[in-house]
Amino acid sequence: MSAGTVEIRRSGSTAVLTLRREAKLNALSTHLERALLRALDDKAVTTSRAVVLTGGDKVFSAGADTGELREMTPEAITAYYRDSGAVYEKVAALPQPTVSAIAGYCLGGGLELALATDFRVADPTAQLGLPEVGIGILPSSGGTYRTVRAVGPARARELVLRGRRLTAAEAHAWGLLTEVSEQGAHLGHALRLAEELAALPPLAVAVTKRVIDVAADSPRESSLLLEQLAYASLNQATHPPTEDPT
Ligand code: COA
Repeated sequence: MSAGTVEIRRSGSTAVLTLRREAKLNALSTHLERALLRALDDKAVTTSRAVVLTGGDKVFSAGADTGELREMTPEAITAYYRDSGAVYEKVAALPQPTVSAIAGYCLGGGLELALATDFRVADPTAQLGLPEVGIGILPSSGGTYRTVRAVGPARARELVLRGRRLTAAEAHAWGLLTEVSEQGAHLGHALRLAEELAALPPLAVAVTKRVIDVAADSPRESSLLLEQLAYASLNQATHPPTEDPT
């Protein structure tokens, strides 16, 4: 059990994925990342209208498995990003809206995983941080990139460079969290948010998710053009032209 599993269940239209490696604070070993990759291809997920990712009541994840980090050569690291390390981008690329339900530690790769989801709902016990630089590396599963975009470079330096650990209230004030629930209610709140998102037209949601991602990195002209083209195709899908009777 210490290798960990990902529990998959459905709650209405939402797929709920739970990291289960409690004895190691849900540390993201290669084994656990692969389990998450497989879970994303499970029918319960592919047929869902929203996805909630959680680590349960006590801990979201204490990050990459530090035992594995020590042994990796540059070649092994490159191979890792093609293998289980691809899971962070796979979560980010899901067409459905995604919500992280966070309690307790959400550190390093755990925070990177949460940042790969669209929304983050946390229990007041949540602690968010990126301790990698302190151990001689850096967040490299999209964490540096997404932190800058989520909170701007000055606050990203506090988190990434100084390794500042935020309480749930601080992370909410910084814009890293969508919502802080009452104690013990984070999963319920995340499920409510997921069901609200699941009720939206799925094609509009999937296309808009992509447009938002691209807009974060693109010049004004291409962002505006993409938004207009996306509008044209969504509008046609939503309101197909009626036949001209003449
Ligand atoms: N990788 C592998 N194992 C981890 C881990 C990680 N990132 N984080 C925690 N664990 C394991 C511990 O080794 C311990 O296992 P053991 O009981 O077999 O010895 C178990 O989880 C419980 O952790 P412990 O340190 O005893 O809990 P704590 O409450 O005293 O401290 C933390 C919690 C999160 C502060 C501490 O575990 C920690 O700093 N972890 C590393 C966080 C980190 O640097 N993450 C980024 C990695 S790039």
